[in-house]
Formats: sequence, structure tokens, C-alpha cells
Amino acid sequence: MAKAKDRLGIGLLGLGTVGGGVGQALIQRPEHLAEQVGCPLVLRRALVRDAGKRRSFDLPPGLLARSVQEVVGDPDVDVVVEAVGGEQPAASFLEIALRAGKPVATANKEVMAKHGPRLLALARERGCDLRFEASVGGGLPVIALFQRDLLANRIAAFHAIINGTTNYILTRMDQEGLDFAAALKQAQALGYAEPNPADDIEGTDATYKLAILASLAFRTQVYPEDIHREGISRLTPRDFRYARELGYTIKLLAIARAGQTGLQVRVHPAFIPQDWLLAKVDGVFNALQVEGDLVGRLLVYGRGAGPQPTASALLADVIEIARRLHGGLPPSLPPLPGPGLPLVPMGDLEVRHYFRISVADRPGVLAQMASILGDRRISIASVIQKEADPQAGTAEIVMMTHPARESAVQSALAELARLEVVKEIGSWVRVEA
Ligand SMILES: NC(=O)c1ccc[n+]([C@@H]2O[C@H](COP(=O)([O-])OP(=O)(O)OC[C@H]3O[C@@H](n4cnc5c(N)ncnc54)[C@H](OP(=O)(O)O)[C@@H]3O)[C@@H](O)[C@H]2O)c1
Repeated sequence: MAKAKDRLGIGLLGLGTVGGGVGQALIQRPEHLAEQVGCPLVLRRALVRDAGKRRSFDLPPGLLARSVQEVVGDPDVDVVVEAVGGEQPAASFLEIALRAGKPVATANKEVMAKHGPRLLALARERGCDLRFEASVGGGLPVIALFQRDLLANRIAAFHAIINGTTNYILTRMDQEGLDFAAALKQAQALGYAEPNPADDIEGTDATYKLAILASLAFRTQVYPEDIHREGISRLTPRDFRYARELGYTIKLLAIARAGQTGLQVRVHPAFIPQDWLLAKVDGVFNALQVEGDLVGRLLVYGRGAGPQPTASALLADVIEIARRLHGGLPPSLPPLPGPGLPLVPMGDLEVRHYFRISVADRPGVLAQMASILGDRRISIASVIQKEADPQAGTAEIVMMTHPARESAVQSALAELARLEVVKEIGSWVRVEA
């Protein structure tokens, strides 16, 4: 068993939004942290890219490091905190720290989603902790939920709003009737969206987080490329209006569901009933709704980003690692993935669907559409004809189906798009209920 420590040194990789939040808390609340751990935590080194940059707080002199080796190789650094972000060089930094036998707490979803299994195996081999609570949901304790609190449950499904940028944009579109471009601009002006927002609005960020959560919840190795992904840019304010009329709202969801044939993993906009708690998660807030066979339905809700909420999660991991080091205890790593569930191909998915289709405003159109759907066993739950445009001679058909197979829906939409009377397939959104 390792020798107990009575003072633990922290090496920070990155001093930006998140690393700065951690550094500040280490300096500003030493007594509280020492009480939690049983001994003081001391900030020893901090790696940045630009040593000349002004920081949001006063860093004690002499702490800045020029290379990862300077941090990891410092004998006074006992725990490494990674808040650099991106895939590289962050993944190499983690590997260097673990190879040196230094436990790591990271906030990096991309690295954990793409390299997590390899890095966790390395941590196990080197006998040190690798913790990643802050990599999903900022301040929400969602990793601990699956690593500890829900272990006795068989998880049936979870639905998560895990990207604050897209949730903010969708909320503005819903509540103010803004179109996508205007809502994105507002998010950028407020600092909620990056100048290049592609990873958020196309759902890539959510696939990293879903890969991490689904791997833990279902003990199946899920990688980002296994996940079906759609972004939010094709939604319009009209879709929100129609959703509301039908008793729904629209959210970008990360969904994992275990069924008879395997595990579905998907990120896409979805209609959800207005009476779900998730429907009330607005703005930059995040939430995770889990269904476990013992616990029932459970919701975790809170701030999914920002320096303080994310520092809260990273420091929880640091405290846990430090307690173990201080007590001379071995690391506490997640269990190895089990045999795993097969992943269900998207074409086999069976859910309800919403379509908004612009058609020529003349008799017989609905019958043609119904015949194409009927041929593929897609049954219609409701049809509403909306806003005829007399000048263009078009009308808008809003349709909800009963549960239908995805492959059939895709084939029907392709054939509908070829009809002379169909002007445009405006929107197609899956319904979760
Ligand atoms: N921002 C959030 O609210 C949030 C929430 C949850 C999780 N996270 C995750 O936390 C991580 C950090 O995000 P962040 O928003 O704090 O990023 P950030 O503000 O851009 O900070 C990145 C930090 O890493 C340093 N850095 C970047 N590349 C480096 C390199 N090659 N060598 C040495 N240092 C380097 C930067 O140095 P300089 O300061 O000198 O540029 C900066 O201090 C990411 O994995 C992110 O996904 C962020």
C-alpha cells in the first residue's frame, strides 16, 4: 500500500475558463478543501500556452510551467488536473502523467470519449486514478451517478440535454420565435456559443458526452462514431409553434435506450411532451433523466458549464483522489466494461415522427401522401393543414405518425420528395414519449 501523504501538491494543465476556476478555488478556499481531504491541497505548478497572458486571478509567482514534463516531473506534484481541452496535445498529456504514475482528474470529454478505454487501462496498469466527472455536464454529478449511485439498477434508458449552447438557441427560438441564425447570433453575443459553433450545433459535443455516459451506464464500449448524430440548424420557429399546438417542445437530446435487440445511441432534435421535466430545462441549463429498474425515473439538473460549476466537479475528483492518497488507499477506477450490448442500427429504430411538408394546394394531395405512407405500414396519428400560401399555391401539411420503423420512414420521405405535388420536406423530427 502507498505511503500516506500529509500535504498534497496539485499540478494544473491549463488555466483558462475551467483551469482558472480550479486554480482560484485552490487559492481562495484552502481550509475548506483541507477539511474535505484531511490535509492541505497546494497548487504547485500550472501549465499554460502563453505565459504573458493576463489571468482572472493572482497566481503566486514562480508557478507557471513551460512544459508538461515540468509539471508531471515535479516531485511535489501528487495530482494532475487537465483542463487544456481538445484531443491533442491533451490526450498525450494524460498519457505522460499516467505513465509517470500520477493520478489525473480531467474535464476533457473529447479525450475521454475517444481515448478513455486506453487511458483507463493505462491508469489501472500504473495503479493510479483517472477521474472525469467534469467531462460531462459541468457541475452536474452525472458520472458519479453511473459509477456509484445507480450501480444496483438495470438502466432502461436515459435522455440528456447536455449541450448548453444548443439548448439556449432552441429556448430562444421557442420562446421568442427567433429563427436559428438570429438565436445563434444572440448566443454568440452572450458568450454561450463559440465564434465557430459547429461542434455544438451539429451535435458533435453531445456525441462525446453520450459516448462517455452510455459506456458507463450500460457497461458497453461506445465511441462517438457509433452514435447517430443530427444537429439543430434545420429547425424553424414554425416547428416550435406546431410542436406546442400538439403538446410538445423540441430539445436536442442525447439518448441511450436498451431494448430487446441491443442499445440505441443517438443525438438529434426530438419532440418531447410538455409535461416532462426535461421540457422545462431552458437556456444554458443541462439535465439528465434516467430510468432505472429500482430507482424509477430520476432527474439531475443544473449548470452544465462555466468556471465555478466545472471547478466544483473537477475539485470533487481531486478531493476523492487526494483522500485516497492521504489515507494510503489504492485508486478507485470504474469497473472494466462488460460483454456489452450490440448497437441497434438506426434503420431499426421505431418511434413516432413529425413531418412538416409543403405541398401544392389542390385536391387529392393528401391521398397520394397517405398511400406512400400506407405502403410502408406507416400509420398516421394526426394531420393538420396549415397556412395556405395563395400566391405560391401551396399549403403546409403537419403530420404525426404512430411508431414507425426508421428505414420505412426514410424510404417514404424519399418517395414523397419525388412527388410532383410536394414542394419541400420542411422538417422531420422524431418524437420521444
Ligand atoms: N468552459 C466550460 O464551461 C467547460 C465546461 C465543462 C468542461 N469543459 C472542458 O474543460 C476543458 C478546458 O476548457 P476551457 O473552456 O477552460 O478552455 P480554455 O479557456 O480555452 O483554456 C484552455 C487552457 O489550456 C491552455 N492550453 C491550451 N493549449 C495548450 C497547450 N498546447 N499547451 C499548454 N497549455 C495549453 C491555455 O493556455 P493559455 O491560457 O495560455 O491560452 C488555457 O489556459 C475542455 O476539455 C472543455 O471541454 C469546459
